[in-house]
Amino acid sequence: MIGGAGFLGINLAEAMINAGHSVYLLDKSFANFESRRLSIPVNGKYEVDIGDTAAIIRLVDELEIDCVANLASSLLPSSDYTAFDLELRNMMLPAFQLLSHLASRKMKYLYFSSGGAIYGDAVEGPCQEKIQPLPISHYGYSKMLFEQYIEFVSRTAGLEYIIVRPSNPYGPHQNPNRKQGLIAVAFDKIVNRQLIEIWGDGSVIRDFVWVGDLAAAVTALVDRNSWNATYNVGSGVGSSVKQIIHLIEDLVGVRADVEYKSARQVDATKIVLDISKLQSLINYQPLDLGEGLRKYFRAVYATKS
Ligand SMILES: NC(=O)c1ccc[n+]([C@@H]2O[C@H](COP(=O)([O-])OP(=O)(O)OC[C@H]3O[C@@H](n4cnc5c(N)ncnc54)[C@H](O)[C@@H]3O)[C@@H](O)[C@H]2O)c1
Repeated sequence: MIGGAGFLGINLAEAMINAGHSVYLLDKSFANFESRRLSIPVNGKYEVDIGDTAAIIRLVDELEIDCVANLASSLLPSSDYTAFDLELRNMMLPAFQLLSHLASRKMKYLYFSSGGAIYGDAVEGPCQEKIQPLPISHYGYSKMLFEQYIEFVSRTAGLEYIIVRPSNPYGPHQNPNRKQGLIAVAFDKIVNRQLIEIWGDGSVIRDFVWVGDLAAAVTALVDRNSWNATYNVGSGVGSSVKQIIHLIEDLVGVRADVEYKSARQVDATKIVLDISKLQSLINYQPLDLGEGLRKYFRAVYATKS
């Protein structure tokens, strides 16, 4: 798993290991992983930058890897052109180069795209995988570009792939100090009685999914060989930012201090994923938001006070 030391990588590694897979993590830094003394029984950890294609190919051959997952990204929905330019040169182009090598070795590829940013603002109802992505942020555009290149290598060189489009995952191992992940940030600010800054008036709607459901769904897709397709992985239910804040206030028992700022052009008004394709293939009943928030609170804060 490239970018395996991050939020989704750790959760996916746990799910894959529980399902009997051997997992090796590659990341440019394990500092966060090690400072939190995580003891996940992976088969190996390697500090490698995704830009070092030769080192990755060497490892893939030495360790006899049969599937590479790519979770590495440095972009956020708010990232500007300069950040996109850097991502393209330093991460995406080397990753594109790697894809041809993986295809020639008959290896499989699991890519973490985005189920929010890729759809943009033009969809009325639940977003289906088959609609034309119309991203409105550089982050979303980078995901569209990456997906298209994977499909190109699949068409021309036979690469087998799964593209995962996660909606808004939340759960253990999420970093509350990042500018992505409303639930982790809101919990942290409310528990610590700090100001929460919200872009817009809080009416923006997103599809929040428990990270354990996401990790289990991806593991199930791999286990049942559902290759060469793109899957939304969300809850299928929309909640507004304001609703989330109120639910967390009630759970923590503290009123939030919220500052509503001007809306950003990069934030779509409403993103809810259509998850019927996923549900037609695997047994997938995502956790209800209220239950997920209680689970998050227990998992992350129960031992802290
Ligand atoms: N977390 C979300 O809300 C969310 C939602 C939809 C899609 N995604 C996508 O899923 C993927 C994983 O997300 P996440 O939340 O785990 O992110 P994260 O930031 O927690 O983890 C990403 C990991 O990639 C690593 N990385 C960054 N640059 C690298 C490089 N040059 N070489 C090697 N490793 C590098 C980081 O060190 C980090 O450990 C990303 O592509 C992200 O865009 C995330």
